[in-house]
Amino acid sequence: MMSPNNALHTFQEDLKSITSLESLYVLETQYLGKNGILNESLKSMKDLDPEARKVLGQEVNKIKGEIVESISIAKKKLLSMVDENNAVDVTLPGKKYESGSLHLVTYAIEEISAIFERIGFIRMSYPEIEWEWFSFEALNMPADHPARDDFETFFIDTPAHEKFGKMVLTPHTSSGQIREMLRLGKPPIRMINIAKTYRPNWDASHVPMFHQFEGLCIDKKINITHLKGTIDYFAKEFFGEDRETRLRPFHFQFTEPSFEVDITCDLCAGTGYVSESGRSLDSARDDLKVKCKLCKQGWLELGGTGMVHPNVLTAGGIDPKEYTGWAFGFGVERVMMMKPGVGLNNMRALYDGDIRVLEQF
Ligand code: PHE
Repeated sequence: MMSPNNALHTFQEDLKSITSLESLYVLETQYLGKNGILNESLKSMKDLDPEARKVLGQEVNKIKGEIVESISIAKKKLLSMVDENNAVDVTLPGKKYESGSLHLVTYAIEEISAIFERIGFIRMSYPEIEWEWFSFEALNMPADHPARDDFETFFIDTPAHEKFGKMVLTPHTSSGQIREMLRLGKPPIRMINIAKTYRPNWDASHVPMFHQFEGLCIDKKINITHLKGTIDYFAKEFFGEDRETRLRPFHFQFTEPSFEVDITCDLCAGTGYVSESGRSLDSARDDLKVKCKLCKQGWLELGGTGMVHPNVLTAGGIDPKEYTGWAFGFGVERVMMMKPGVGLNNMRALYDGDIRVLEQF
């Protein structure tokens, strides 16, 4: 059995080799615990006379106090080292984990697919690298036809195919019309193709890779009223109940008749004029009106459409005497930027990869 003085001495020696809170805790129990060294040293008390007992008691208490004090100093020292090494400061605000989000264009694609799926259109995907034949010849644009100039095209540097010609990056989603007709072999067809398209342009409203969504509907007795109804439905679902659409005569080689689709402007509510402060017009004060800068006389252009040309149906293996159909092709980025409240006026911002733009959505 150790005398209290010896116990203090060995404790001080042991303490020197302590480097962690865990081992300090072990040392503390070893000396101050219920069956620890100091309590052990009291066991001899019962053999002592009352005076000697009192002296021993006081001595043990004093040494206990010293050990408690040394342990508390050592603990503080070790705790401050933990702070420095692990930099754990529980008073600091918690770390915020970055959360990713979908790209604005992805949101738009999901919304567009959902709208068309509700009215029975099936979403399809076709090759992004396509043969010229599917992008042009089959769409009633033979080699050297000037209409091909409207679809400035990236060509792939590979040998040309005997029938299908060169390989291209799809300049429009209309090649999907032919792919779908050949895939199904027989109407009815209600297809929506949302895909990447490529043209060598780079300015505020054009980027070299953009997205289009192409609708195709072919069956017996399909006519323009079905086309107008479908486009109206899309416009109201995507832009809002109050928006109107119109078909304006136009020309595409692969549709006849062809149209451009316009939608009423959000800013001037289709009037073509805004108040001087830039708001939609207050008719009571129309002396203050100025021309709306966003649109042309109240209308914004959505994209191209028309009744599928008989030559295109034939190229797709469908008899134009038995079936008719329509198709449209709109730009995803374009319609997304036209959505009220998006407030994006430079298409390039979508693809610059600037996190300050992307993380807002
Ligand atoms: N492919 C045309 C374009 O990119 C759009 C279009 C699609 C027009 C379908 C008519 C029918 O401009």
